[in-house]
Amino acid sequence: MKITIVENYGEMSKEAAKILAAAVKDNLKPVLGLATGGTPVGVYRELIEMYRNGEISFKNVTAANLDEYVGLDAESPQSYVSFMKSNLFGHIDIDPSKTFIPDGKAKDLQKECDRYTELLADIPRTVQLLGLGSDGHIGFNEPGTPFTRHTHIAELTQDTVKDNSRFFASMDEVPRKAITMGIADIVSAQTVLLLASGKNKARAVYDMIKGEVSEDCPASILQRHPNAVIIIDKEAAQLL
Ligand code: F6R
Repeated sequence: MKITIVENYGEMSKEAAKILAAAVKDNLKPVLGLATGGTPVGVYRELIEMYRNGEISFKNVTAANLDEYVGLDAESPQSYVSFMKSNLFGHIDIDPSKTFIPDGKAKDLQKECDRYTELLADIPRTVQLLGLGSDGHIGFNEPGTPFTRHTHIAELTQDTVKDNSRFFASMDEVPRKAITMGIADIVSAQTVLLLASGKNKARAVYDMIKGEVSEDCPASILQRHPNAVIIIDKEAAQLL
């Protein structure tokens, strides 16, 4: 693991954007694995800025997102389709036909999981961007999820539902299930870039880096990845 501790969220976002921009520039057909939530918003802002300044183009980029809530329409403001449009895709020159997000409204969810697993095998990620759940989850692979799993339906834990409720009008509206890339899909990326900011991530950061590699802390699998890059701010690093 290559661990970098930076001052704050802004610096974390800048450092991560540099890594993603380099992957886009240095590869003929870059494939980015992308995340939603609060963590990557600053990174996406930086990338949009680079695009506006003419430093970078996303024309050759393929993007595959980690996850989507089950049961939300793509048009719903809380869906990850909407999130990606408003935080990144709607502001850059990426070809929408090369952006992929699991379909949380699929009639046959198991079939959708299998389809997404096959898709991911066809488009190996150059870089997989990750946030970190306060319980150590990556994607929506909650503690206890086998490291060998591919895309599957995950039941969100109470902690995750609570963390995600800030994006919804009430706790009741937060979906309890999501389709998520599995750990086996996530670690197949050439580089895994995990970001964490804020003191509510400090325990998970500690377990990920200093704890045993264990399914109790899904992110601890990154200790075994040949190219895991961890960028955290001082607050998230406070227990190290
Ligand atoms: C998002 C995702 C989740 C989040 C994690 C942290 O696509 O898969 O693992 O990265 O829940 O969320 P934030 O960034 O909101 O703290």
